Amino acid sequence: MSIKKVGPSEPGPEPGPVADSGPASKAESGPASKAEPGPTAGTGSLVDVRDVSVVFRKRRTLAAARQVRAVNDVTFHIAEGETFGLVGESGSGKSTTGRALLKLVPTVSGSIKVAGHDVTALHGGALRRARRSMQMVFQDPYSSLDPSATVAASIAEPLIVHERLSARAARTRVHELIEMVGLRASYADRYPYEFSGGQRQRLAIARAIALNPRFVVCDEAVSALDVSTQNQVINLLERLRSEFKLTYLFIAHDLAIVRHISHRVGVMYLGRIVETGPAERVYSAPAHPYTQALLSAIPDPRRESERIVLEGDLPDPAKPPVGCPFQTRCRFVMDVCRQQVPEHTAVEGGGEVACHLQTSGPTLAGSPLNDLAPTRVAAAP
Ligand SMILES: Nc1ncnc2c1ncn2[C@@H]1O[C@H](COP(=O)(O)OP(=O)(O)OP(=O)(O)O)[C@@H](O)[C@H]1O
Ligand code: SF4
Ligand SMILES: [Mg+2]
Repeated sequence: MSIKKVGPSEPGPEPGPVADSGPASKAESGPASKAEPGPTAGTGSLVDVRDVSVVFRKRRTLAAARQVRAVNDVTFHIAEGETFGLVGESGSGKSTTGRALLKLVPTVSGSIKVAGHDVTALHGGALRRARRSMQMVFQDPYSSLDPSATVAASIAEPLIVHERLSARAARTRVHELIEMVGLRASYADRYPYEFSGGQRQRLAIARAIALNPRFVVCDEAVSALDVSTQNQVINLLERLRSEFKLTYLFIAHDLAIVRHISHRVGVMYLGRIVETGPAERVYSAPAHPYTQALLSAIPDPRRESERIVLEGDLPDPAKPPVGCPFQTRCRFVMDVCRQQVPEHTAVEGGGEVACHLQTSGPTLAGSPLNDLAPTRVAAAP
């Protein structure tokens, strides 16, 4: 059985979506639950990313090519069983980071370790074997479900190719997987277009967990769904994480979505991570002016007057500004910001921020002036 490789495409028409069923989907129909406390201290990192950069060359004319540093010196780790949320505007480098972790794009520098594998050094058969423990769930379920094959065929494909299961054993496992994601096993012989968007995403998740991965990159996995379906799929991911001790990199441009599932969060801007920290701290006391602006934009009638408007667009990633990447839109910009890239410094409450305000900015009563802004933004619950 072979699956046609399908590129990203618009979801097809949904002539007859089948109804959700089974105990799991009922249990997940409520509002998204806050992620349980993260893994305990001392748990080793399953994912260790250090100083990783990815450069794309865009050829504009025969003579001229320009380079885009889509990921620039990115460092973070994810503990086993933890969900690390990666947020930032469109074009900030989130997907490229996720793809680099699975060696779907080449890196130009840095090291990536995932589940004991030195990803940047893997090639050929070793890379194929390692990929079994690292999977990806995309925004568009058709990236992994072949529209012209039954969902059983799509989900069985990795089992037959990698596990060498017999057709009968693969079918049994496919039924288990479909039930695991809250759908009826009897749906196995239907085609992707016969399902609703949320159900299709459940099936894409079933395929992603078929080989018992340890690490899953969810790239905008719920972004195309309506709010209540988003909650259901997030709760499903959360249940699978806790049941199978999965570790997630959860990518989304919407901070409100990431908040519900992440133990820790990283904020990306123009290829760089500008802030990391426990989700609670980042959401209650964001330290970077960019994070403050993003959070203030989350619709909340109680916080209407405190919205920080981000002027302008993300700069051209082929011509990033010298110094801090956020300087062209930052309301606190200083001379030093136009000369030096800010170092990452520790933040009270956990995590790090890359902002000169924390080190060489003006102070008030000994505290960085920037500390005043998080207090103001976080004032509303
Ligand atoms: N295959 C590619 N070839 C050339 N440039 C690319 C490629 N993939 C991404 N880029 C560029 O790299 C930068 C980061 O893109 P990326 O897709 O990682 O951003 P993102 O944060 O995931 O955005 P979005 O929220 O829109 O998905 C962008 O400037 C993009 O144009
Ligand atoms: S380093 Fe400067 S420009 Fe960058 S976020 Fe901090 S204050 Fe703003
Ligand atoms: Mg993306």
